[in-house]
Amino acid sequence: MTASAIVYTSATGFTARYAQLLARKTGLPCLALARAGELPAGTGVVYLGWLCAGGIKGLKKARGRLDVKAVCAVGMAPPSAEVEKKLTGQNHLEGLPLFYLRGGYAPGRLSVPYKLMMAPMTKAVTAHPPKDEDEAAMQEAFRRGGDWVDEGALGPVLAWLEGS
Ligand SMILES: Cc1cc2nc3c(=O)[nH]c(=O)nc-3n(C[C@H](O)[C@H](O)[C@H](O)COP(=O)(O)O)c2cc1C
Repeated sequence: MTASAIVYTSATGFTARYAQLLARKTGLPCLALARAGELPAGTGVVYLGWLCAGGIKGLKKARGRLDVKAVCAVGMAPPSAEVEKKLTGQNHLEGLPLFYLRGGYAPGRLSVPYKLMMAPMTKAVTAHPPKDEDEAAMQEAFRRGGDWVDEGALGPVLAWLEGS
């Protein structure tokens, strides 16, 4: 295994849960990025960060000090090849394995600046009657929150780690 630790950044807990699940499954130590100074510089890590307007939070800082071997981006959008392709380009990940994990949305746990950032999006998403069940579920998540954390979604990450 090329990675010897799991490092993450989480604002409302969903990314932290994925990081802890991954740690339990791999036996690797798991640290929040704020504590990554405890690891020797250049340590090989899997980095997990939450998505904020298409950017993977903390990734730049993590790459500045650690040897990021693979990245997991945690967002609220449904997973798709299109999302992964966009994230790879936007976050300069060419050549680095990227895994998209669907986390959740917890408006009640957001700090005021993030709440303000999400307000126009929430308004746009919930402004019209839903056209299908998926859209209804998304509107409900924007209004009251949602949780899609799924241990099974870590399968491709584990397969990559085992082969690395
Ligand atoms: C300000 C803001 C911007 C966000 N931007 C995106 C985004 O671009 N794509 C996405 O899929 N989710 C986006 N989200 C949703 C979060 O990525 C999602 O809630 C994630 O699970 C949060 O993880 P955490 O609980 O570890 O902080 C955004 C959330 C906030 C508050």
